[in-house]
Amino acid sequence: MDTAFQFTDYGEKWREHRKIFHQEMNAIGAQRLRPHQSQASQRFLKRLLVNSDSGGASVVEQVREYVLIAGEISVSITYGFQQVSRTQHDAHLSQNAIDPLVQLLSTGGTFLVDVIPILRYLPSWATGASFKRKAKLWNNLRQQMFDATFGEVKTDRSSGIAAPSFTSFCLNNIDPSKDIPKQEEDINHVAGSIYAAAGETVIAVLSTCIHILLNHPEAVKRAQKEMNEVLGFGILPTFDDERVLPFTKSLILEMQRWKSPTPLGLPHVSTDDLTYKEYRIPKGSIVLGNSFVCPGRFVAEASIWVILSSLIAAFNFRRVDETGGPSHSFQTGLLRIPNEFKVRFEPRSEAMRSLISELHEG
Ligand code: HEM
Repeated sequence: MDTAFQFTDYGEKWREHRKIFHQEMNAIGAQRLRPHQSQASQRFLKRLLVNSDSGGASVVEQVREYVLIAGEISVSITYGFQQVSRTQHDAHLSQNAIDPLVQLLSTGGTFLVDVIPILRYLPSWATGASFKRKAKLWNNLRQQMFDATFGEVKTDRSSGIAAPSFTSFCLNNIDPSKDIPKQEEDINHVAGSIYAAAGETVIAVLSTCIHILLNHPEAVKRAQKEMNEVLGFGILPTFDDERVLPFTKSLILEMQRWKSPTPLGLPHVSTDDLTYKEYRIPKGSIVLGNSFVCPGRFVAEASIWVILSSLIAAFNFRRVDETGGPSHSFQTGLLRIPNEFKVRFEPRSEAMRSLISELHEG
């Protein structure tokens, strides 16, 4: 994963990539991606309604399909692709490339090499060196994904049909007096990092919050009452409504604080002996920072707001079977994702059912 910058060592390349990311994904820049996020949230409501009508929606599967297979959020934000067939193709590539990493992270990094670093020096055909073969496979898949999708945006851009996206914004900023292939390569790699960063994390947040809402109907009712009073019954909230719905906003933030999707953040390793305040951190120490330092937070918060506030405005959450209760189990690993559970998303009125059925298809 040497090109995804969340896995790049601290240094000039990391700083350069972080700068490219921040230029487009800061609090203001992230707002340009809101149309993608609104459309994606509308499609999600429809999907949940259809699945609920046929016996209850399997929440983790639906959220995963929505984020990865339909690829609405990560693909459209990063590359601006709107057409479903193309989006699905790209999201499949994404899933192939990211899945093995997620498996590794979700099992807590079970490769023996993590524990016995000397195994790193085994040739790739040797028994026990499967991590090397897998790493090579992942690299190929990942490269295929990054290059293919990046190339398509460039083609669309030259034909004047590229939709607004992180990649097209960055391509607009290219300085023709400097090394153009190098600038394009940097953009390609940062775009690939977003693809990887914005998938499984969002799945963890959404499925966890839906689990909480299922088990706290009193909080759902209070947020619905606030929306009825401020927006009117049967209205879906927009981004601007976050300011006028303080209870709903606090509820959504509190769920993420209470059941953080990344309780341990991402582990880092110190590359030198360090002193921080009165602490001495020897070279090679594993450092777990707090999980509120994600540079994609402006995009993530907007996605989560529009999806969860719309779900609350649209549905009552009903248990279908024995799954999803207060002591429901969660997967182990770096990301906190619930094991599968079912929910029936019941429209709050017939008018709401019609509204959702008629929502934009994207
Ligand atoms: C709610 C969902 C999300 C959560 C919980 C989350 C959490 C995190 C965490 C804990 C880190 C590691 C920070 C560190 O210790 O270095 C991280 C890094 C990162 N995240 Fe997120 N993230 C989320 C969504 C997103 C989204 C939507 C994007 C892109 C638009 C994104 C882009 C990134 C990038 C690029 C990094 C690497 C930063 C670096 O290495 O400097 N994340 N995220």
